[in-house]
Amino acid sequence: MKFDKSFPARLAGLGAVALLVAGCASLSGPSPAELDAQFKAMMQSSFRDQGIAKVDRLQQDEGQAACSTGTAPDEATARRIEAQSLTTVKAPSDGKYLGDWKEGEKLAQNGRGMTWTDKSAESSANGGNCYNCHQISKQEISFGTIGPSLYNYGKLRGVTDPASPAVKAMVEYTWGKLNNAWAYNACSNMPRFGHKGLLNEKQLQHLMALLLDPKSAVNQ
Ligand code: HEC
Repeated sequence: MKFDKSFPARLAGLGAVALLVAGCASLSGPSPAELDAQFKAMMQSSFRDQGIAKVDRLQQDEGQAACSTGTAPDEATARRIEAQSLTTVKAPSDGKYLGDWKEGEKLAQNGRGMTWTDKSAESSANGGNCYNCHQISKQEISFGTIGPSLYNYGKLRGVTDPASPAVKAMVEYTWGKLNNAWAYNACSNMPRFGHKGLLNEKQLQHLMALLLDPKSAVNQ
């Protein structure tokens, strides 16, 4: 391109036009509230119930709404969400916190479930998908890092006998975390497995064993 004296002037002119266009767009475009309404209508018209996947998945509970604004909820709201979440955690009905760690490992590996082709949430037995976010055993080298490593989870916390009163608080905390992660951390990315019916009590007991049984591959 030939550089002539009028080039900088033309460039400045172009800039001014761009600014004008941008300015007009922001003046005449929809307001945030209108965009929200349009978005809601689009979501509602784009999805329908199919099998077990119902459109009610679009309804946020109070905690989800408070955690989805783009900024973290204030301290008081966060503590309220945690306290409310803790009330949803029930002790295991048979009094046993730990199941079979090998079953737990299978669940941690399994990321399927909740799809519209499943007959029902109960009959299809969802997986836990834990490796998607956590390192767990050393044998599995494919894992996500959204959550902290859980390798040596029980060992690092001094759990040599999960039934001992000395580790009761740790066992109960872990049970609470798996049942409803928000009980200890409002707005956590971790799914609320028990609370949302993603995993049943038996499955949660197996996952507890994976993390806390001294014989589990996690604690070697
Ligand atoms: C979508 C990502 C995600 C999935 C899936 C997930 N977690 Fe988590 N998890 C996290 C995050 C993020 C944290 C850290 C923040 C927090 O404490 O909530 C966490 C924290 C934890 C903690 C507490 C660790 C500590 O040191 O206190 C435990 C235990 C845990 N996860 C176990 C599991 C198990 C078992 C599964 C599978 C059933 C699982 N997680 C699935 C994201 C996930």
